[in-house]
Amino acid sequence: MAYFTDKFKGKKYFKDISFHHVEYYVGNAKQASEYYKNIFGFSDYAYAGPETGLKDRASYVIRKNKVFYVLTTPLKANHPISEWLLKHGDGVYNIAFNVDSVEEAYNGCINRGAQSVSDVFAVNDKNGFFSEAFIKSYGDCVHSFINNRNYKLWAPNFIDNRTDKKKSKDTKIELIDHIVANVELDKMDFWKEYYERIFGFSAFVRFDETDISTKYSSLKSVVLRSDNWKVKLPINEPAEGLKKSQIEEYLDFNEGPGVQHIALLSSDIIQTIKVLRNNGLKFLKLSDTYYEILEKKNIVIKEDILKLKELGILIDSDEEGYLLQLFTQPIQDRPTLFIEIIQRRGSRGFGQGNFQSLFESIELEQDRRGNL
Ligand code: FE2
Repeated sequence: MAYFTDKFKGKKYFKDISFHHVEYYVGNAKQASEYYKNIFGFSDYAYAGPETGLKDRASYVIRKNKVFYVLTTPLKANHPISEWLLKHGDGVYNIAFNVDSVEEAYNGCINRGAQSVSDVFAVNDKNGFFSEAFIKSYGDCVHSFINNRNYKLWAPNFIDNRTDKKKSKDTKIELIDHIVANVELDKMDFWKEYYERIFGFSAFVRFDETDISTKYSSLKSVVLRSDNWKVKLPINEPAEGLKKSQIEEYLDFNEGPGVQHIALLSSDIIQTIKVLRNNGLKFLKLSDTYYEILEKKNIVIKEDILKLKELGILIDSDEEGYLLQLFTQPIQDRPTLFIEIIQRRGSRGFGQGNFQSLFESIELEQDRRGNL
């Protein structure tokens, strides 16, 4: 049964915490950065590689408003990142958090039982003060804490390559709204408890197979959030179905748990989807009956429903307001990571009302891949 609560039941371990950036491991960071720039409207921000003293890998930092991506590629076969890529393919390695004190955040998490990946690294040089530390997360993913607010560059070894060149119309993408994990069967509550215990986050939405299921598959999901609402981390696990669920398909192709989707908040979803479609991005398509059913729900919206229908944008509402959203097809050949575009009009939900129709659409795609 679904529940929603806006009461924060966690602990205030962090004065302030927010998404700082997401680091992807990719096979070819130079080309991946062009994809995100040309399609999503990112621009260059910083770079590190052999030319800047980083001998074993190259990292491109790109930015769109408050969204920062780091795209990293190894330069040798025997690099640990090469092993990661061989197993998972291109995907998210690190969800990095912006905190006031890296040392406090890291030590607190370690004391509460987190596993270290790398201890606090802090420098005070001619560019200012920089600090960073890493802990383990689900699968082969990590979380880092970072503070580079008083550092002139992105990080040591990086050069600034910021540019304001606009290649296409503004995609209106503003910030990261939430980041979703897929974990193994019966592991959802383990990771829920992990984020409650280690981060002091609070579970505020939960739903299971009685809420969302089709003839073939279903999922269980719980959403964790920080006290300030800036970090929202839904966690999914597969639930028994007649055939292979989309979560199981993900786990098979990712060879384990990982990030299923990143939701990017738009300030004008009609423009975002128009521009992204124009730039060649492919979205999930819902059945034509979706808008007929929607009209019967009588949701009061500011947008022109015909425009939403034309662009395939989905709507969901709750007692606080409504939201508009749309999901891309997987953005690499493995059916793993995809992107959500979301605009909120009061609702703090995740589009639960759309899950049923979305599942049916995803199953059509799974069937086309022969994985249903
Ligand atoms: Fe989402």
